[in-house]
Amino acid sequence: MGKSIGFVPTMGALHEGHGKLISQSASENDCTVISIFVNPKQFGPKEDFSKYPRTFHDDMNVAEHHGAQVIFTPTIEEMFPSTFQTQVIVQGISEVLCGQYRPGHFNGVTTVVLLLLNLMQPHKMYLGQKDFQQLQVIRKMIDDLALHTEIVMVPTVREQDGLALSSRNRYLSPASRKKASAIPKALAVIAKSYLSGEKSVEKLFKIASSELNKENLIPQYFEFRSTALLTQKCEILVDKEAVVAIAIIIEFEGTCTRLIDNIVLGND
Ligand code: PAJ
Repeated sequence: MGKSIGFVPTMGALHEGHGKLISQSASENDCTVISIFVNPKQFGPKEDFSKYPRTFHDDMNVAEHHGAQVIFTPTIEEMFPSTFQTQVIVQGISEVLCGQYRPGHFNGVTTVVLLLLNLMQPHKMYLGQKDFQQLQVIRKMIDDLALHTEIVMVPTVREQDGLALSSRNRYLSPASRKKASAIPKALAVIAKSYLSGEKSVEKLFKIASSELNKENLIPQYFEFRSTALLTQKCEILVDKEAVVAIAIIIEFEGTCTRLIDNIVLGND
């Protein structure tokens, strides 16, 4: 029998969130491959592609420590030579939530992920719940194109105060960092109220908004959507499995850091 390959695609600047994906893959497969590639196709013209943290030597240690056997670090020219002409677009689902504010972002993600899947031919691919929409867009691509890789969703790894680990957290000043902790707090109060029986979207939204208001945080989006069909909003009641997804831009001395987070309700 052939050996199983687990694959963890990343853009580097690895933290314990990536580490969790790698160690889960290592525990479930014979060989774990990770890719480190800061994909230019998924950054908008005004986004942080050139500033995106590149910490290759530290990344090697994190990857090895968590059990990766192969690290694939292609150059831009190797992945996207000047003759490259293809774009993979998953319609609908990639146009809502983050897609509305980052036009073309998910097309860049699906284009690179399909190319990586064809190069690696993994049995399983490990993706974080932290980027829930990304995971569902990739899931749709895999489903629509009858690819053979199974997706494994790994729960979001958080700091002690609940903030989801992200390569972009390093851009936050101590004051912004404190403000940012209101995001997981808002999601936590929703989860708690939901578990004690509250299903009204309006009421859940209200209690969470009061957490965000304490820190003067205004979300770019804050929405309840069906997990199966991200294009469908939950308007009145959370009566099927739903994701509560939030994006907030935190500004400090002219630098804007965009943070996203989510929780899934009704999957218990
Ligand atoms: P990157 O942001 O490096 O994330 C790589 C993987 O790590 C993604 O699946 C992401 O959801 C997961 N991840 C990030 N933070 C996490 C956390 N706190 N807990 C759990 N998982 C976490 O996502 C990308 O790169 C790119 O878009 C990529 C898929 C590699 C395509 O370029």
